[in-house]
Amino acid sequence: MKILVTGGAGYIGSHAVRRLLQNNYKIIVYDSLVNGHKKSLPAEAELVVGDLDDKEKLNKLFKENNFDAVMHFAAFIEVGESMKNPAKFYRNNVVNTLNLLEAMVKNNVKKIIFSSTAALFGYPDEIPISESTKKCPVNVYGRTKLIIEQMLKDFDAAYNLKFIALRYFNAAGADFGIGEDHNPETHLIPLVLQVALGKRKEIKIFGTDYSTKDGTCIRDYIHVTDLINAHMLALKKLLSANKSNYYNLGNGKGYSVKEIIETARKVTGHPIPAIKSKRRAGDPAVLIADSTKIQKELNWKPKYGLNEIIKSAWEWHKKNPDGFEENIN
Ligand code: UFG
Repeated sequence: MKILVTGGAGYIGSHAVRRLLQNNYKIIVYDSLVNGHKKSLPAEAELVVGDLDDKEKLNKLFKENNFDAVMHFAAFIEVGESMKNPAKFYRNNVVNTLNLLEAMVKNNVKKIIFSSTAALFGYPDEIPISESTKKCPVNVYGRTKLIIEQMLKDFDAAYNLKFIALRYFNAAGADFGIGEDHNPETHLIPLVLQVALGKRKEIKIFGTDYSTKDGTCIRDYIHVTDLINAHMLALKKLLSANKSNYYNLGNGKGYSVKEIIETARKVTGHPIPAIKSKRRAGDPAVLIADSTKIQKELNWKPKYGLNEIIKSAWEWHKKNPDGFEENIN
């Protein structure tokens, strides 16, 4: 089986690449390297450096390869930036995904695993969040992902293109000797670990007056390895059953910002100074996934809890304090 992995040099994509190779899939990574890291890829992964706005290059890639399916990770993900520069997000996430889907249909590749997000649900009207919870994104990033889900549905109806959309909650952790390296970094766990490394003075807690147990926001953190295991199950299912579907992907457990910091203190042995700061716009108080659908239908089970997530991330950050700018093992 041969899989095209867009965004395969990004945080989650690069972990998927390792697992696909481990499971004997043939792969080609298509990544612009605008945010991805060449060093996150193993030597045996074939990388085509390209942008999804390059229709000619994409078409050539599909013509020259007999792909069985696509895993589509490539996207801009920074919520704050999406509000300041919506055009950049609509162009890269929506228009470029449309380019990809058109190239697929043209070349008769009709299976895709899509990286969707909990941001579809905005301020959810129920917790835990199931697949049928109302979708009402409150930021441009979430809206681009919802539009893509709708495009996928329309492409299925019109062209028989089958998809599985995996809606990630808070992905974190590290595996395969690679890890999370965003620039700028905005995610809580890597930021907290940068404080432990001495690269930042303190962590700001965005909001301490939410109506949660300790006043800070609650999120559902899922180990990147569990996330990738779900991708492998989804891919197998898509290749065999040829049916479109949507799954929410989280641990089903919520941890507050304060609990994350406390766990990181224990794991790292560093005091990790934290200061109260004002709320960040657009942050829902609580996001917790109901992942029973994927557990039932694909037999997926999350294996790792918060300790293992933070431990694995810490191991990687300690070895690679400057991320992929330094050598990775
Ligand atoms: N937080 C802080 N201080 C920081 C950074 C984050 O207190 O310096 C808080 C946030 O306010 C939030 C929690 O930590 O309550 C987690 O924040 P992240 O930025 O790590 O993650 P989000 O929950 O905001 O976002 C993640 C993904 C997005 C996705 C969203 C919903 O990063 O891409 O989940 O799925 F849109």
